[in-house]
Formats: sequence, C-alpha cells, structure tokens
Amino acid sequence: MEARLMKESRTIQTKLVLPPDTNHMNSIFGGKVLAYIDEIAGITAMKHARRQVVVTASIDSVDFLSSAHVGDVLELEANVTSTGRTSMEVYVRVKSKNLQTGEERLTTESFLTMVAMGDDGKPTPVAAVIPESEGEKRFFETAPARREHRKQRAKTPR
Ligand SMILES: CC(C)(COP(=O)(O)OP(=O)(O)OC[C@H]1O[C@@H](n2cnc3c(N)ncnc32)[C@H](O)[C@@H]1OP(=O)(O)O)[C@@H](O)C(=O)NCCC(=O)NCCS
Repeated sequence: MEARLMKESRTIQTKLVLPPDTNHMNSIFGGKVLAYIDEIAGITAMKHARRQVVVTASIDSVDFLSSAHVGDVLELEANVTSTGRTSMEVYVRVKSKNLQTGEERLTTESFLTMVAMGDDGKPTPVAAVIPESEGEKRFFETAPARREHRKQRAKTPR
C-alpha cells in the first residue's frame, strides 16, 4: 500500500460554543469537547485510511488547560501522526477563541488511537505516513515512545 503524506490527513473544524453545551457557569462541558475530539480524529483517520469505518481504540490522557464560554469558538486541528499495522495515532489540538477580543487559548490536546476496520468487521491494514515539516517529523519520531507507554498502561492491573 502506498504511503501517504502526513498533511493529507490534516483536518480543521470550527465550532461555536452554544448554551446547551455549557454548565451553569457558561463553561463548556469537558464531555462535549471530548466528543468533538473524537469526531475530528475519526474524520482524520478515515481520510488517511481511505475507509468509511474506523473505531476509537483509545484516547490518551486529556488535560483541560483552559475553558471556553458561550459565544467563543473552538478551533480543532488534527493529523495522523504515525501508523501501526491497522492503527493510526491521531493528534488533536483544541484552541478557544474569544471573537470580541481575538484572544486565543489552548484548551486541550490529545492523542487518539484509531483502528481501520475492514468489510469483514476486523482491523485492516493502513498505509504508512510520511512526515515532511520539522513539526511533523517531531510527532512521527516521538510516536514509538507513546505507543510503548500505551502498551504498558494496558498491562497495568486495574
Ligand atoms: C479496537 C479494536 C478494534 C481492537 O481489536 P482487537 O481484536 O484487539 O484487534 P488487534 O489486537 O488486532 O488490534 C488492532 C490494532 O489496535 C491496536 N489497539 C488495540 N487496543 C488498543 C488500545 N487499547 N490502545 C491503543 N491501541 C490499541 C493494536 O495495537 C493494533 O494496532 P496495530 O495493528 O497498528 O499494531 C477492538 O477492541 C474494538 O472494536 N473496540 C471497540 C472500539 C469502539 O467501539 N470504539 C468506540 C467507543 S466504545
């Protein structure tokens, strides 16, 4: 299977924070942000794998660094940063923007593992990914350490 450039999977989404998405302090629910993260990661992985069905195998730890309020916009950006045989690591960054002041803040960032599913409902191989820019290469080169960390976490008794 022919490898694909990392930038080919790049996906950007903008979401307006609306009252039903927020708590009584007008701050967006963390679960809502997670749903957006999962959605964009799915689209990004589908683009790379060129498959209609991908599933979320795991979401690495998510730290919420700042909040977003009603009327702010969330800008999400995602890329496939590395691949295994059937899995893809997807990096997602979420920024919030106050449209009146123009102030931008990093809300959160996370890595997800998405798995491509074949027509038989089983994991199916994906193309390798080729990083080009310095930033892309950094994500790619640090991916094996994150993959190992996930493996160790999965082995940890609960
Ligand atoms: C993810 C899933 C497809 C893995 O199936 P499986 O039978 O364990 O298949 P495999 O062991 O062949 O694993 C497939 C790939 O997933 C990766 N994987 C499996 N579990 C993982 C986990 N918890 N975290 C990260 N990667 C994982 C494997 O490393 C493998 O990657 P590789 O092919 O690149 O080496 C299966 O557990 C599943 O369907 N889970 C539910 C997914 C879902 O419904 N998500 C939505 C929210 S509930």
